[in-house]
Amino acid sequence: MSNEDNEMLTMALSKGRIFEETMPLLEAAGISVSESPESSRKLILPTSDPRLRLLIVRASDVPTYVQYGAADFGIAGRDVLYEYAKEQPGGLYQPIDLNIAKCRLAVAVREGFDYEEAVKKGARLRVATKYVNVAREHFAKKGVYVDIIKLYGSMELAPLVGLADAIVDVVSTGGTLRANNLVPVEDVMPVSSRLIVNQAALKTRASRLTPILDAFQKAAV
Ligand code: ATP
Ligand code: PRP
Ligand code: MG
Repeated sequence: MSNEDNEMLTMALSKGRIFEETMPLLEAAGISVSESPESSRKLILPTSDPRLRLLIVRASDVPTYVQYGAADFGIAGRDVLYEYAKEQPGGLYQPIDLNIAKCRLAVAVREGFDYEEAVKKGARLRVATKYVNVAREHFAKKGVYVDIIKLYGSMELAPLVGLADAIVDVVSTGGTLRANNLVPVEDVMPVSSRLIVNQAALKTRASRLTPILDAFQKAAV
């Protein structure tokens, strides 16, 4: 066994839906995790493979841990990756679409707000979002003038209280929009989560990474 084969691999992922949907993929690679980040306060979780550990980080921090090599690989949504790449381009290898945590980014407005008419008239729109780069690019392509207001969550609230005319946010079932009297008016991009790999690790730890990447590839539907 070479030194490389003994080395610890580190995987970054967020708790909640990505953690839950990643467990079957790890199982497919023959790896189980006995502690759950929902019940444990530990941020580093061991796995049944003594040479693989998990880092539990915020969804939007996964690319940072992987790009800087604090994690060798990780899992992040295309929404997060797109937003991150606008600020820190080029550092991440994204080999596999895992087809988990599927949703879409969409523009939504208050029921009764005539979005098409506002766009046609050339109105300047206030848009609240966590995805400022994605939103700016989307509206620039359409030639719509926007003032972007950065929020960190509960975007659906913004149009209800006059903070914004529109939001750009994740939509899955549409239940959150409906519950808040909002309607989707435009798709921005389809979203699923991807495996991301540190570029140096891909070269120096190839023999450790390859079996896991292969198992994920096979298990991803
Ligand atoms: P934080 O809690 O740190 O603000 P977050 O809300 O983005 O982060 P999650 O809700 O776990 O964290 O979302 C992680 C990823 O899962 C998102 O980046 C997106 O790709 C996807 N996602 C978010 N909401 C949904 C949803 N309702 N259905 C399916 N996938 C979703
Ligand atoms: C996400 C997202 C939307 C909602 C969309 O929230 O921020 O609000 O899902 O899903 P839906 O179309 O099926 O309603 P999440 O459940 O992650 O809660 P959060 O606000 O804690 O991120
Ligand atoms: Mg969420």
